[in-house]
Amino acid sequence: MGSVKKQGDYMAIQVDERLQHIAFIMDGNGRWAKKHGMPREYGHSVGASTFEKVVRYCGDVGIKTVTVYAFSTENWKRPEVEVKAIMLIFGEYLKKAAKKADEYGLRVVFLGDKRVFPENIAKDMTALEIATAKHPLTLNIAINYGGRDEIVHAVNTLIGMGKTSITEDDISAHLYTAHCPPPDLIVRTGAEKRLSNFLLWQSAYAELYFCDTLWPDMSEAEIDAAIEDFYKRKRRFGGV
Ligand code: IPE
Ligand code: IPE
Ligand code: MG
Repeated sequence: MGSVKKQGDYMAIQVDERLQHIAFIMDGNGRWAKKHGMPREYGHSVGASTFEKVVRYCGDVGIKTVTVYAFSTENWKRPEVEVKAIMLIFGEYLKKAAKKADEYGLRVVFLGDKRVFPENIAKDMTALEIATAKHPLTLNIAINYGGRDEIVHAVNTLIGMGKTSITEDDISAHLYTAHCPPPDLIVRTGAEKRLSNFLLWQSAYAELYFCDTLWPDMSEAEIDAAIEDFYKRKRRFGGV
């Protein structure tokens, strides 16, 4: 962790090369809404604004890759009205995402199988990836994402290529995250201490940080706390 720099009235800390990739399991939108006497969908809507704030802050502190878990392969089990609301919020985000990505220098990459989305949405997703491909910071949005699904998808791709024997590098190179390093730090809000099918392969040596804050309340101060905690860890990767 390096120097501090003044950012508005907030002192943003600066990370170094030890923290290149931070990933967030954005959990707790529903409980946040309930706490405020509102329907769950409202929590997702406020959570979407929080997501934008967090991504911007991570860029400000010098993190090169941010991944967010927005919707899992298991989240389709939720009531139709909630799924529809989340997809509507996602569609709205897509409309303004290119402009924001230009502004903040973000390359947007979607992790997950796009084929489940309506054709126009899937097209907008691909168009955004292409339009932002040259930007310096990476924002991975995991949507219709499952870690198990991702590994199966990679293995099937390799089988399709005619491989009869595969290595760890082969799998890594065919995951949705092939373009970026594995996460150094995974932060989960919302008090649950589990991965819920997020980045199963890539998290092998990630540092994990869990906090009680519900996602819509996620703050710069809580991110700083996670980063400070990360820098206290001794990463051994199996060594001594
Ligand atoms: C995370 O918040 C967002 C998604 C999974 C889409 P939740 O909707 O899981 O909120 P809680 O955990 O029920 O409070
Ligand atoms: C994980 O949260 C998925 C996302 C944040 C998108 P969930 O709320 O779906 O996880 P569980 O059901 O509590 O494990
Ligand atoms: Mg949840």
